[in-house]
Amino acid sequence: MTKYRKTYLTIKYSKKGKRFVKTFVKSIIMENKNLNTLLNRRTIRKYSDRNIEKDTLDLILQAGIRASNCGNMQIYSIIVTQKQERKEALCKLHFNQPMVKDAPVVITVCADVNRFHKFCEQRNAPKSYDNFLWLNVATIDATICTQAMVNAAEELGIGACYIGTVNYQAKEVAELLHLPKGVVPVTTITLGYPSEIPPLTERLPMEAVVHYEEYEDYSKEKIEQLYEEFEQLPQIKKYIEEAKQENLAQVFTNVRYKKQDAEYFSEKYKNFLKEQELF
Ligand SMILES: Cc1cc2nc3c(=O)[nH]c(=O)nc-3n(C[C@H](O)[C@H](O)[C@H](O)COP(=O)(O)O)c2cc1C
Repeated sequence: MTKYRKTYLTIKYSKKGKRFVKTFVKSIIMENKNLNTLLNRRTIRKYSDRNIEKDTLDLILQAGIRASNCGNMQIYSIIVTQKQERKEALCKLHFNQPMVKDAPVVITVCADVNRFHKFCEQRNAPKSYDNFLWLNVATIDATICTQAMVNAAEELGIGACYIGTVNYQAKEVAELLHLPKGVVPVTTITLGYPSEIPPLTERLPMEAVVHYEEYEDYSKEKIEQLYEEFEQLPQIKKYIEEAKQENLAQVFTNVRYKKQDAEYFSEKYKNFLKEQELF
């Protein structure tokens, strides 16, 4: 059985009818190493100069390839970028997020029906995967594969950061990586030995995201309760203050992920998928 030592301490108390939640997130020390890694993981954006040895990188890639995938058809491809010049070119496409040029390894995982179509053609089988359903399935495969690599990397003491801008810039990334028709970049991660250990980020309480048996829709009061407590956490409070906004929702919608940007990048992404004949 998993034993917990000095772990996760949550103090809840009431003050004038208002509930405050103070969460001290200390390191969780567990005997189960895999769980320990999963429960203590955090995004790492700063890396030391240490390279990732080939054997270690191969292990990470193997963990990704071992992951579940639909029908075991493996309709994804993994592009590993290590050359500095190419990382710098990728970095520009990712809106100059410095991790992309600073990390020793950048991995772009793609939904890929190109390889499977070639296989089908050569085996006198119909080409059946150039449609939205299979794009969706291949995207799921690529994502699961990526997360398995991230888990493996973290087990090996290597930090990872997802780079979401790959979806904004799918066409440009595809051009740089010479992706043929039917290959769509889905995820990008940067990998490297950490030169920072940032604090664990807060999460909403479990009750906010887990539903048993059926979805219980959120009343106005419930939303208020869940997010008010969350917004009171020191880390989140600081985040709101730094963004000069009144609340967390405004940080996301006014500052970080604006509607007009999302609409622009949605159209761009849809056009790219149409060119790929996958949408
Ligand atoms: C799909 C996806 C896209 C992300 N894109 C970026 C990104 O472009 N830049 C970045 O610094 N972090 C990115 N992240 C990392 C998240 O910001 C991070 O996971 C989140 O803030 C929670 O922090 P934690 O991973 O340390 O718990 C991304 C994560 C995911 C899953």
